Amino acid sequence: MEMKYRNSNNDQILFWTSKGATVEGVPTPDELKETPGWPSLERLKKGPCAVIECIEEIPCNPCETACPSGAIRVGSPITNLPVLDENKCTGCGACISSCPGLAIFVVNLNYTEKLALISFPFEFLPLPKVGEELSAVDRKGEKVCRAKVVKVLNKPKQDRTPIVSICIPKKFAFIVRGIYLRDIRENSFFKSMDNENKMRVLKHPILGSQKLGKLVNITVDGKKIKAREGEVIAAALLNAGIRVNRFTRKYSRPRGVFCGIGQCTDCVMIVNGIPNVRTCVTPVESGMVIETQYGLGKWEIKN
Ligand code: SF4
Ligand code: SF4
Ligand code: FES
Repeated sequence: MEMKYRNSNNDQILFWTSKGATVEGVPTPDELKETPGWPSLERLKKGPCAVIECIEEIPCNPCETACPSGAIRVGSPITNLPVLDENKCTGCGACISSCPGLAIFVVNLNYTEKLALISFPFEFLPLPKVGEELSAVDRKGEKVCRAKVVKVLNKPKQDRTPIVSICIPKKFAFIVRGIYLRDIRENSFFKSMDNENKMRVLKHPILGSQKLGKLVNITVDGKKIKAREGEVIAAALLNAGIRVNRFTRKYSRPRGVFCGIGQCTDCVMIVNGIPNVRTCVTPVESGMVIETQYGLGKWEIKN
């Protein structure tokens, strides 16, 4: 598929997304099924099983040691995609909290005759409550169907990455991957927040309470947006609805925040003319000029 974009000089840039994630940076179930972390339908029909949606080839492997059954293998080099041995997987869910990319889910297609149970990592506060009914969302965060919260695990062994389990109609088992935060926010202290901050995470299980810095202007691909001084650039962009930070060198695949802790380099952008700046760990300063990064940070213009 051919895509057209313009950089801050209004140059037209063409690139192709023939393979990999769609232009929004969200992989489709069909693409994920081709990866080694995705179990077969036959296995899923037998009971709960991990579904590993890790497609980034980043230097990362905690899932490998987290699995008590030895069902996940990354091996060497550490940038290998994790391989799931579906016959060894018991669906215990121990791997879910270990993944910094929040890329591991457990899907139970046999929860009831009509319902599937989806367990996923959830690093926001407040946590949903067991029995609560809310909207389930897909990988893009768009609403798919109603869901009921069945379990919320937040013990020390989850290491501050709680696991939420929801039941949903079976036909959405490969589509639903989370819950709609606004449902929670409309019922909680978020209600009092103005629109400018609605997408900001101010209370976080790992980072604690966040103070709002001074409101400043930054420029992103030629457009001015508001940001809070001191927050990381990636957070300001997400608050402004910007989810694609760069496009990969070989296949022009879109990439956004993945690990969020400075490890994977998926969020790099050109900041004040310097390419490869990890926006998830770089604080906002007033007047910053930020540009989407294509490949290694040099513009490639094709006619
Ligand atoms: S669900 Fe349990 S058994 Fe399956 S891969 Fe994860 S940790 Fe291993
Ligand atoms: S991102 Fe998650 S699934 Fe991928 S290798 Fe790291 S721990 Fe494993
Ligand atoms: S999201 Fe991984 S380094 Fe920024």
